[in-house]
Amino acid sequence: MKTVVLIIGANGQLGSVLTESLQHKHGKDNVIASDLHQRKSFDGIFEVIDATDKVRIQNVVTKYNVTQIYHLAAILSAKGEENPLQTWDINMKTLFNVLEVSRLSNIERVFFPSSIAVFGEGAPLSQTPNDAYLDPATVYGISKAAGENWAQYYFLKYGLDIRSIRYPGVIGYQSLPGGGTTDYAVDIYHKAVLEQQFDCFLKEDATLPMIFMEDAIRATIELMEAPKENITVRTSYNIAGISFSPAEVVEEIRKLYPNFVVKYTPDFRQDIASRWPKSIDDTTAKKDWGWKPEFDLESITATMIQKLKQQYKIDSKSHNTLLL
Ligand SMILES: NC(=O)c1ccc[n+]([C@@H]2O[C@H](COP(=O)([O-])OP(=O)(O)OC[C@H]3O[C@@H](n4cnc5c(N)ncnc54)[C@H](O)[C@@H]3O)[C@@H](O)[C@H]2O)c1
Repeated sequence: MKTVVLIIGANGQLGSVLTESLQHKHGKDNVIASDLHQRKSFDGIFEVIDATDKVRIQNVVTKYNVTQIYHLAAILSAKGEENPLQTWDINMKTLFNVLEVSRLSNIERVFFPSSIAVFGEGAPLSQTPNDAYLDPATVYGISKAAGENWAQYYFLKYGLDIRSIRYPGVIGYQSLPGGGTTDYAVDIYHKAVLEQQFDCFLKEDATLPMIFMEDAIRATIELMEAPKENITVRTSYNIAGISFSPAEVVEEIRKLYPNFVVKYTPDFRQDIASRWPKSIDDTTAKKDWGWKPEFDLESITATMIQKLKQQYKIDSKSHNTLLL
């Protein structure tokens, strides 16, 4: 059967990059990107979908004979705290709609991203294991922990082949982050190449697990391609990239920008970060589907700075337009 992919939340930080990778893999005619708003100058098939509308998802699935769904739409950790009940509603309603449409339309495979935000004070902070106790302190984390269990429920009850990764903070040059607690690790590189001061909303020693966009996308595609019998975790897989603190990324950036100035003014996001793991044990993902990260802090920094300089056209001195 031909693979036809629907991506929900395709305009976001991860979705925009994942869409291109999936287009490359399956062909532009077999990838349907969707989000709340039409993306400007998008090369491919795009449908406006509000994923709180189950009928709309069903219509697009039927129209294109969709066989796989990547459900990326969500309100993230920091933004989610602004309106907790609305965050719960959106995150859960969109997930239930995807689960139901998938079950009723015999969708062959579904991807649902979870997050390190599912962990709270009951989990070890260091090398947090896959099966650690989950007591998240944000509404976002609560919705992801519940979502993981619902994913497993649909697998056990209906045989839906749904797969999930708990992403660490994702760092990429291709897109801007959408309101998470790890967003600083993208913003800091933008300020560095623009030679501006960076105001950091976390403390300098707030170590968190992070992953480079290329690794995150590769992990997603490798998990989705793994043989079904290898998948032993139907809640969500821990994956590790690297762990670092703001002070460590600043030290790395100063090798290239010695005058880079950072001011630390921790806000509510520091409270969120303080309950999250510092490092992740991803033994199960390694064993089940061969997960292995490739990027460390040095290679992330070199790539981020090189690519952002090109996007800001730093060499030609027209600093102000970011060409994302
Ligand atoms: N970026 C990270 O560091 C990170 C880390 C852990 C987990 N995740 C998860 O990965 C997924 C993608 O994250 P991201 O960083 O790309 O998020 P993002 O905020 O950048 O993008 C989310 C997209 O979902 C869309 N959306 C919101 N509500 C919608 C709705 N009702 N219907 C359709 N689309 C809707 C938004 O318009 C946006 O384009 C999310 O589920 C997130 O929880 C991301």
